Amino acid sequence: MAARRCFMVLLAVLVLAPLLPTASLAQQPLKVGVILPMSGPFASSIGQQVYLGAKLYVAQHGDVVSGRKIELLLRDDAGVPETSKRIAQELVTNDHAEILGGFGLTPLAFAVAPIATAAKTPMIVMAAGTLVIPEKSPYIMRTSFTLPQQTAPIGVWAPKHGLKTSFTLVTDYGPGIDAENTFLKVYKENGGQILGSVRIPLQNPDYAPFVQRAKEAKPEALFIFVPAGEGAAVIKQCAERGLVKAGIKIIGPGDVMDDDLLDGMGDPVLGTITSHFYSAAHPSPENTTYVTEFQKANAGRRPNFMSVSGYDGMALIYQVLAKTNGSAEGDKFLSNAKGLSWMSPRGKMSIDPQTRDVVQDVYIREVKRVNGHLFNVEFDRIPAVQPDGRY
Ligand code: DHB
Repeated sequence: MAARRCFMVLLAVLVLAPLLPTASLAQQPLKVGVILPMSGPFASSIGQQVYLGAKLYVAQHGDVVSGRKIELLLRDDAGVPETSKRIAQELVTNDHAEILGGFGLTPLAFAVAPIATAAKTPMIVMAAGTLVIPEKSPYIMRTSFTLPQQTAPIGVWAPKHGLKTSFTLVTDYGPGIDAENTFLKVYKENGGQILGSVRIPLQNPDYAPFVQRAKEAKPEALFIFVPAGEGAAVIKQCAERGLVKAGIKIIGPGDVMDDDLLDGMGDPVLGTITSHFYSAAHPSPENTTYVTEFQKANAGRRPNFMSVSGYDGMALIYQVLAKTNGSAEGDKFLSNAKGLSWMSPRGKMSIDPQTRDVVQDVYIREVKRVNGHLFNVEFDRIPAVQPDGRY
């Protein structure tokens, strides 16, 4: 009897063994390490917004894809590159995270790129916007935006609409320099004249003296790039120094008119024109559902462009896993991500197969009061703008 039972068990093991790897992959949770600034000055408009967007996607679409339970492992890097790097290493080595996501600021994405390369781990940039980021690792893809892409349309629009002279004010690091370079080139090509340019430190910025210099140059427009979360501080200086009253129009990519802070900026920003890929006021069925469900899940808070970049980071992950039967193996993941396109709350977007970067529509918007609240109201659309700003 005992020998017979033993034989049956052995037989069962031999028959089932070849099936085990697939079965066990499907049963293992898939850990996505999400690295974001959840403390410090970029916590609210970047860290929280990206995370809440990502979480909303999972809540709407269920937490199982191709039989694998998706677990988001959120880690706070406080905006410090060495911390992002250490956390990424721990996530990959100790927690066995199979995908990395997040990356709230360019230097944080740069710090993690070598780890993604060494571990062959897909790395999804859901915030940072400096153009060269995907060149730092073949495992990087981006679902947010680039500054050349967001800046070129306003560089074309402004000189064609009576704003022939500009002064530029940008934060002095990757995305600010991309924004400045793109604006200077495109604006001049379209007949605009630059009266001066200043760059302001990322850490503890004091905008007052730079805004004063901009005012004294007497431009028709002040071009501003500051990262999400900094808009209110720079606008406060512009208002206090009477730039708007002096007839100087504020223009730029949409970061300065970030939906997270916009409603608190008040009347001085009415009429501000920016070019950007996302507005909470974007009129589409997808966006109406997105804003409604985001607000329902988060005590009425308004989603900004960072939230939708986190949301679409998860949309990318879910679509790829559906194609790979739940495998996040680096090379397989990348080859299945390249060329994907889908309808986001922002509008149409795709992952360019060559650069692994995002291609998307960019809108020209004006700040208006709608039902008592300030919104970026879109009035023109430039379809399929490339990461390098060509269209
Ligand atoms: C970064 C770029 C942005 O446009 C922004 O709003 C915040 C951060 C960045 O790349 O660091």
